[in-house]
Amino acid sequence: MIGIFDSGIGGATVLRELIKLLPYEKYLYYCDTENFPYGDKSKEELIEICDRIVSYLINKGSKIIVIACNTASANCKDYLRSKYNIPIIAIEPAYKMVYDLSYQYKTLVMATHATLNSKSFLDLYNKYNNSNTILIECSGLADLIEENNKEKIINYLEDNIGKYNNIKNVVLGCTHYPLIKHEIIKVLGNVKFFDGSKGVSNRVKNILKEKNLLCESENGDVIFIDSDNNKVKEKMFFRILNRGEL
Ligand code: DGL
Repeated sequence: MIGIFDSGIGGATVLRELIKLLPYEKYLYYCDTENFPYGDKSKEELIEICDRIVSYLINKGSKIIVIACNTASANCKDYLRSKYNIPIIAIEPAYKMVYDLSYQYKTLVMATHATLNSKSFLDLYNKYNNSNTILIECSGLADLIEENNKEKIINYLEDNIGKYNNIKNVVLGCTHYPLIKHEIIKVLGNVKFFDGSKGVSNRVKNILKEKNLLCESENGDVIFIDSDNNKVKEKMFFRILNRGEL
């Protein structure tokens, strides 16, 4: 089984890519509604929360863990990797992709406070900085996405990113943000999106292959569990998995 988690339903955008690549695997998705949102929590709080989740997923039989949350990855991956001896794959904002594919253009990186202020992100940013990048802390945006309130989302985007012109690249540095591509386009016009879900999925496949742990013949399956037993979140989660949107 592959254990995967996020603070909420955003990680479904990662799981969707994983299933395309690895359809025969069994997935256990942990949605942490009880502690949502992660974006404004301290590193210490995040480590305590994520440690409990990873331990739970391993006890349930996970052979690998996917952190489908940029905030948790940026703040906890080193701690978790040093503590547990199964592979822990962590998503990160796809800023290197901009460096590789679209370096010369004005870039907006959208992510949570805790991601943008982490050492992990700052290292990535300093390494691949194109000197034409704006970093935007999107406090509260994941909450509006979980609420699925399109009008509030558009208002939020207009207030927070509407003033930027000529943006060509948008890095979706939170796994919730691929769910609002249409709204971002409405506010910024046509932009090119970058997110880390395909990269993470390829990495998971390669590691499982290397370790001879790939499932090739079983029927794939997805089990959803929520720390607050939230049935609305469960419905939204499966809708995203099936349709790719809210
Ligand atoms: N989905 C999480 C991420 O990728 C953040 C949402 C939250 O603030 O909990 O960063």
